[in-house]
Amino acid sequence: MRIIQLLVISCILFSCSETNKNQAFTPGQLWPDNKGTHINAHGGGILHFQGKYYWFGEHKGSGEIGNTAQVGVSCYSSDDLYNWKNEGIALKVVENDSTHDIAKGCILERPKVIYNAKTRKFVMWFHLELKGKGYDAARSGVAISDNVLGPYTFVKSFRPESGFWPVNVQPYHLKPVSDTIKSTYCGGKGCLPAHPDSLNILGRDFKNGQMARDMNLFVDDDGTAYHIYASEENSTLHISQLTNDYLSNSGKYIRLFSGRYMEAPAMFKHNDKYYLFASDCTGWAPNAARSAIADSVFGNWTELGNPCIGKDSALTFYSQSTFVLPVAGKKDALIFISDRWNPKDHTDGRYIWLPILFEKEKPVLKWMDTWSLDVFANE
Ligand code: DGJ
Repeated sequence: MRIIQLLVISCILFSCSETNKNQAFTPGQLWPDNKGTHINAHGGGILHFQGKYYWFGEHKGSGEIGNTAQVGVSCYSSDDLYNWKNEGIALKVVENDSTHDIAKGCILERPKVIYNAKTRKFVMWFHLELKGKGYDAARSGVAISDNVLGPYTFVKSFRPESGFWPVNVQPYHLKPVSDTIKSTYCGGKGCLPAHPDSLNILGRDFKNGQMARDMNLFVDDDGTAYHIYASEENSTLHISQLTNDYLSNSGKYIRLFSGRYMEAPAMFKHNDKYYLFASDCTGWAPNAARSAIADSVFGNWTELGNPCIGKDSALTFYSQSTFVLPVAGKKDALIFISDRWNPKDHTDGRYIWLPILFEKEKPVLKWMDTWSLDVFANE
């Protein structure tokens, strides 16, 4: 009785902050930051640096303009992955120049930050759509900082791989193309009249660079970094090796899953195999997730089907893949991270974090109302 009284008194005096700390993940629930506000870092990615985690993501607003970038890229930090401190805006949109590539009102999606140990720079990549142009620009943006929290300085935006053919280029890509191929963003499967290969979108964009929408980054154990992006009117994924400074595409890239309309790619490694999660292409509406495996990044990729099992598995538990996070200090511990979008109020978008289980070589995702890092073995 005395102990409870003491606890109550110390809670009143010290606002119970320690005892209120999150000790588990609760996928799909509101996730308050250190100030009690739902985390605003959508389509995000997490960097583990010097013992701390940094979550970068889209700062979204509510209402009609909610998906245009009014603020920039948010950053949160955490020691334990359950509790996140709002660190403010890492990359700000430009307010006083409406012609700037990242002018306020552009679309800036799926930002990811990686650390380059050689240059000691933090490098951010993101999918950029120029202000007022819908989803037509299909560009990649790059920003850089000396400090993990930023501020990040915008470096450039472009369409990748201009003047380079992929390692698996086909003879028909090399034939001259007509410039009458339509370039519209359909935002859904089947919007193009024929198989994308017959349209040779790759050849059309050879000179000025390939379209790059939903994207992710992956850094291999040897420090080689890759840019994975939805290209060719979203019909085909590309994986592109970055230059050693991580600031540009190197010109070495591969086309994957032509005509499968995959977006939301997230790449990871497990037992020396490379994996990809992705989604179908249905705008903000959820669909069935995809997975694939390969022995090497530029090798043969084989689709493994929907990794989700159980209720709502056909809709990825009402979410879309965003990132795969390896957990430091835990053996084979990988977390699948996805967004449950809410296009009516993007600030209410929820985060789904689930442990990645494996059945032989196949990754499996099972819904859990609540779970903790204890599901993973210590290293
Ligand atoms: C689905 C993508 O994954 C999102 O990042 C966003 O681009 C929406 N489509 C837009 O409809």
